[in-house]
Amino acid sequence: MGKWFPRLYDTLMEPLERKKFREIRKNLLQNVEGKVLEIGSGTGFNFPFYQQAQKVIAIEPEPLMRDQSLPRATKANVPIEVILADAEELPFPADTFDAVVGTLVLCTIPNPSKALKEIRRVCKPEGQVLFFEHVRLNHPVLGRLQDLLTPIWKHLCDGCHLNRNTLELIRQAGFKVVHVERYYNELFLVIKTLNDK
Ligand SMILES: C[S@@+](CC[C@H](N)C(=O)[O-])C[C@H]1O[C@@H](n2cnc3c(N)ncnc32)[C@H](O)[C@@H]1O
Repeated sequence: MGKWFPRLYDTLMEPLERKKFREIRKNLLQNVEGKVLEIGSGTGFNFPFYQQAQKVIAIEPEPLMRDQSLPRATKANVPIEVILADAEELPFPADTFDAVVGTLVLCTIPNPSKALKEIRRVCKPEGQVLFFEHVRLNHPVLGRLQDLLTPIWKHLCDGCHLNRNTLELIRQAGFKVVHVERYYNELFLVIKTLNDK
């Protein structure tokens, strides 16, 4: 993994965060309760928005991202522990968490279906599983453009795929999709699910 992406992540994201993403993150996370797992927590953009969680365990495989997230973990309103780990092999027993959160992460995990299977395993039955993700557009020209741009984008942005059909992957993994919100002409989706076991 290149080092420039983790170092510039916050700066690159700041305009989007300020314009809309902070509000989306807040609405998604402020009511999440119990023992929560966050996958691929990056620099900890979500951390200020947990209000009701008893404890958050965040996993992040990139040490530079994790290190940058630690001040946000310390300042958070709830206890947050950040562990270096991979969502494709979660180091937790089955049925550990009341809720699982993933934001802007299924685009980057090399095998998202494997990660989703792991999330299903570690989340309790009927636990809340919440996502905020960008997806491939269902538009003949724009979707194809995303396909064409993905190889170079992936190279520049540490493995991020512009063209994943993440909502479908989530359904295929067996989650019960209970709510979908669409932003920026359906490029970004908030996907609320239950872990239907
Ligand atoms: C675009 S960043 C999003 C960070 C954060 N979730 C956010 O909302 O700002 C993608 C994150 O996924 C992480 N990631 C990549 N592969 C992963 C994996 N196999 N398991 C967990 N996280 C992974 C990256 O290290 C990076 O922090």
